[in-house]
Amino acid sequence: MSVVLNAVDERGTFVTQRSRDLDGEVCISGAKNSVLKLMAACLLAQGRHVLANVPDISDVSLMCELLEAMGVTVTRADHRLVVDVPAELNTEAPYHVVERMRASIAVLGPLLGRFGAARVALPGGDDFGPRPIDMHLRALECLGATFSTAHGDIWGTARTLTGAEVVLDYPSVGATENVLMAAVQARGRTLIVNPAREPEVGDLVSFLNLMGARIGWVGDRLAVDGVEQLTPASNDNGYWVISDRIEAATLLAAVGVCGGSVYLRHAAAGHMTMLIRKLTEMGMRISVEDAGLRATVARRLTSANVSTLPYPGLATDYKPFLVSLLTTASGVGIVTENIFTGRFRYIDELRRMGADIRIEGHHAVVRGTAHLSGAPVRAHDIRAGAALVVAGLGAEGETEVAGAHHIERGYEDLAGKLAGVGAVISRR
Ligand code: UD1
Repeated sequence: MSVVLNAVDERGTFVTQRSRDLDGEVCISGAKNSVLKLMAACLLAQGRHVLANVPDISDVSLMCELLEAMGVTVTRADHRLVVDVPAELNTEAPYHVVERMRASIAVLGPLLGRFGAARVALPGGDDFGPRPIDMHLRALECLGATFSTAHGDIWGTARTLTGAEVVLDYPSVGATENVLMAAVQARGRTLIVNPAREPEVGDLVSFLNLMGARIGWVGDRLAVDGVEQLTPASNDNGYWVISDRIEAATLLAAVGVCGGSVYLRHAAAGHMTMLIRKLTEMGMRISVEDAGLRATVARRLTSANVSTLPYPGLATDYKPFLVSLLTTASGVGIVTENIFTGRFRYIDELRRMGADIRIEGHHAVVRGTAHLSGAPVRAHDIRAGAALVVAGLGAEGETEVAGAHHIERGYEDLAGKLAGVGAVISRR
């Protein structure tokens, strides 16, 4: 096997101390939530695909493992992936990979689209509640796929897929992506009504169009005109994955908690309009500079209310960092979670650090306190874990965040990047 998989060390921790006045430059990596789907999209065409700006994170290793289990050859070096897809594939996504990474469900659409068959282990729930895939299945059924479940797997078949109007009850990111990848080689036109519009969906559309797909916006709907065959999109320079707006948000929150002035190279302001507006409202100065953003914080931030919504609204993935920010801001902020209602588990960990937070249904009422106090805490998922690291940078004394492997699913060298701008942090 050509891919070197990092062994997951579940004992790893991030250790932080109170850090002040961050200063310098940090480079934002390629987007996890985009690259995983682009890797799945490679399954649609035989041949050699090259992706560039690929983050060095363990979810990418898992997706490599999944593709290799299907018979694909993957080579990974210097933030580039070469994905060599053969004519025939094993169309099964086994449980031992799917249970570790929900995004594995992204192979369902491409496998049905190209081979008319897929067997994918049913993903379980995760630490922020149930994660159903009913919308994915209903949408694919509209194109002619049929599904059955047995022994924990979904079996999908489709003799031919035929374009149709697919109405999503909710603009689900994963369902939109699966329908797109199934529809690109279906007969005729598919119209996706109420699709997700996240920048990562846009990146997938660009990648598929470079492969020969015909996808475009018709007003607020996505139209896909099926083509016979796709071919690899990329030349040897590789297709450049968009930058990770959620990693950028994490770094912005760190500046908010510590103060200072940091330049985020590659951060895409156009993908973070609502977040920038919210942070500006709280007192952060954010300006677009060259190919990135500069964030400056000269005084304690002021609280604001926050409500998560599908894009272009404030992403649910930003919320844990915003909560960390509010724990040290002046005043009271109400945070409303509208996407994943169980996504508040890390609040108990923040309370161990002295945060004043009350949960009422899907609202968190956060009263800022001038001083958090460092404590041993545990990360239960990627974003919540990163939010605890951010809070630790604002806490007096030492904070030890256990469960570093959750954070490393989605962050390349978080400790190195933060230490590079002056934060007191190490990975142990
Ligand atoms: C993706 C992102 C995740 C982000 C989320 C929302 C990846 C790998 N993950 O997840 O980081 O938080 O978008 O921006 O890209 N739902 C159903 N049935 C379905 C599908 C979804 O009820 O079949 C519900 C979910 O439970 C949730 C909401 O729809 O309440 C949004 O989910 P969705 O947009 O599909 O998120 P993901 O694609 O899973």
